[in-house]
Amino acid sequence: MPAPPELAGPTAAVGPVRVAQPADAPALFRLSAAFAADGCLLPRAAHEFAERIGEFLVAVRDGELIGCTGLAELDDTLVVYNLCVAPHAQGGGIGRRLISAAAARGSRLGRHRLLAASKSSGHWFLRQGFEEVDPQRSPAAWAALIPPGRGSRLYCRGLSAPAASQQLSATHPRS
Ligand SMILES: CC(C)(COP(=O)(O)OP(=O)(O)OC[C@H]1O[C@@H](n2cnc3c(N)ncnc32)[C@H](O)[C@@H]1OP(=O)(O)O)[C@@H](O)C(=O)NCCC(=O)NCCS
Repeated sequence: MPAPPELAGPTAAVGPVRVAQPADAPALFRLSAAFAADGCLLPRAAHEFAERIGEFLVAVRDGELIGCTGLAELDDTLVVYNLCVAPHAQGGGIGRRLISAAAARGSRLGRHRLLAASKSSGHWFLRQGFEEVDPQRSPAAWAALIPPGRGSRLYCRGLSAPAASQQLSATHPRS
């Protein structure tokens, strides 16, 4: 999928999804902590969101942070982690837009695929064009994304090469 150049800059946005800013860190922590308490997400301390803020995309509506995803680079792969949408905003396409923006970033960075580990949202990832992959037949770094005993599964979605115009934007500093 071609990468929208709108997400190439450090503060740019597409619809409700934009690159996270340092001031978003407390709200990111609060949103994510509720899912961690339910066991849907791995627990992360508040300072981790602040330290890794550059890896996050957020969805904001009426000033409220209603969704987020972390995106970590792993060789030629972009790992989707800590993806969540506030319960009252679920089912409205926010998760899908976060994944579209993740794919745009991955293509812009020249990554070949998105990869996600999920315990409870496997069907949702399949609907978003991901395929389940067998950790036993995957690179060790992929299998390491699954904490022992957690019961998560791995999901992968290929990314198309960026268009020539996006290849130019890939020479800009990472957002
Ligand atoms: C998974 C999650 C991010 C989806 O966010 P969302 O904003 O509700 O998803 P969307 O509204 O974009 O869903 C897009 C489509 O999937 C469908 N869908 C929603 N939840 C689904 C589910 N559990 N299984 C299958 N399909 C689902 C929607 O109906 C919609 O269908 P459409 O394409 O026909 O319109 C959200 O449910 C969530 O925060 N889950 C808990 C955290 C989690 O498990 N994260 C993944 C681990 S990284």
